[in-house]
Amino acid sequence: MSREPRERAWERVHEEIGRLPHEIRDLPVATAVSAREMRAQLAGYDFREPLPLDRVAGDLVRLLRERSVQVTHPRYFGLFNPSVREAGVVADTLVALFNPQLAAWSHAPAVNEIERLTLARLAGLLGFDAGTTAAHFTSGGAEANLTAVLVALSERIPEVAEEGLVGLGARPTFYVSREAHHSFAKVARMAGLGTTAVREVAVGPELAMDPTALDRAITEDAGAGRRPFLVVGTAGTTSSGAIDPLAAIEAVARHHGAWFHVDAAWGGAAVLSPRLRPALAGIESADSVTWDAHKWLSVPMGAGMFFCRHPDAPERAFGISTTYMPAGSRGARDPYATTVQWSRRAIGLKVFASLAELGVDGYRSLIEHQAAMGDRLRAMLIEAGWRVVNETPLPLVCFTHPELEAGRRSRVGAVVAEVVRRGRAWISKVVLTGGRPVARACITSYRTEEDDLQVLVDELEAVRAALPEPPRP
Ligand SMILES: Cc1ncc(COP(=O)(O)O)c(C=O)c1O
Repeated sequence: MSREPRERAWERVHEEIGRLPHEIRDLPVATAVSAREMRAQLAGYDFREPLPLDRVAGDLVRLLRERSVQVTHPRYFGLFNPSVREAGVVADTLVALFNPQLAAWSHAPAVNEIERLTLARLAGLLGFDAGTTAAHFTSGGAEANLTAVLVALSERIPEVAEEGLVGLGARPTFYVSREAHHSFAKVARMAGLGTTAVREVAVGPELAMDPTALDRAITEDAGAGRRPFLVVGTAGTTSSGAIDPLAAIEAVARHHGAWFHVDAAWGGAAVLSPRLRPALAGIESADSVTWDAHKWLSVPMGAGMFFCRHPDAPERAFGISTTYMPAGSRGARDPYATTVQWSRRAIGLKVFASLAELGVDGYRSLIEHQAAMGDRLRAMLIEAGWRVVNETPLPLVCFTHPELEAGRRSRVGAVVAEVVRRGRAWISKVVLTGGRPVARACITSYRTEEDDLQVLVDELEAVRAALPEPPRP
């Protein structure tokens, strides 16, 4: 490759890094393109002739700008995908450049210890013992939840490691709320447990797990010969930000001898805020926790985290030894033998860099700003005549409008679709347990300000006013 295109490619990337954060607010949030149109646009790439890198970089910048939902937009009120901090972009670039291999500690001592240091600090914020907690980075929350189920299985039914599930006789069963994330259904399939091993426990009016229903379900299952081994509490459900009563759930889990895991993939960051921390009371006593840095800690995907209070438990679940891997290092565990992954990217470098740049107090301000924007959005919607239907201290608002509920069927979905089509704000539609569809808006960007909330409310009002009358029943 000649020197010039290479240099120009980096200039293009550097220019975009400078421009995007300033221009993002004026870009459309949404993109509307069919698969056929998108494929046609890429048809020129037949990989027959080599292309100069600056042209490829230019094309990629344009495609990413024009053909993506802009999740770093301050008016992307979406699915926990954050605006990223530049420190994370710098760190991820360095990771791509050096490509450190973290599988064996001795191959990447610096990054392995950088990750350990970062995770220990975050473990301390959860209320775990930073000195003894076993923790590692994952590709995301789904992998962290998979890890939790496999570790819980290994701790509570250790014979599965050698004999598998076939010889067990009694069916291993675990418990999540009806509003829990559906990664657990996938995990049940991946682990060979099958989806009927997942019991969805009823929720109360605030969409949080009912501990009495949990106790009843476990008692019935144990009586019927099943083996309840794990209870999962969610701290910040995906649909509505509900927080299960963690302490009460833990008491039930302990009573039945089950492992207690908390899925705090999004909500975990609330431990940074003195105002929000009490809502997560009980997380500090969990056996394990899922917490995603690529959600509310504003780092690029993927960066999940798994924390386990029992330092040797992950190694019991994943331990393995080979002669072809480098020998272990005294005082350090090798990630390939304590986690789901083998080859391991330096996922945690972007979390380290963001934490180092902002400091814990800086992060606290970002979290509290977003929580305040959530409160403000709730108030603005109510003022404009909308009805908020969920209860959470976290910045996630589910809402509808009495006029949209007037007919036999809710018309909120049509409003959500039109708001998205207009491109000034991105929200989604969700159906909560026992309810009709509602609109969902989550503050996912530290860049979101009150003017952005006003744009959303104005868009909702404009679209609602333009909606045709519902058909008469
Ligand atoms: C509560 C919860 N758990 C787990 C996940 C899965 O996380 P990921 O998408 O990072 O795999 C999500 C995703 O939104 C989530 O909201």
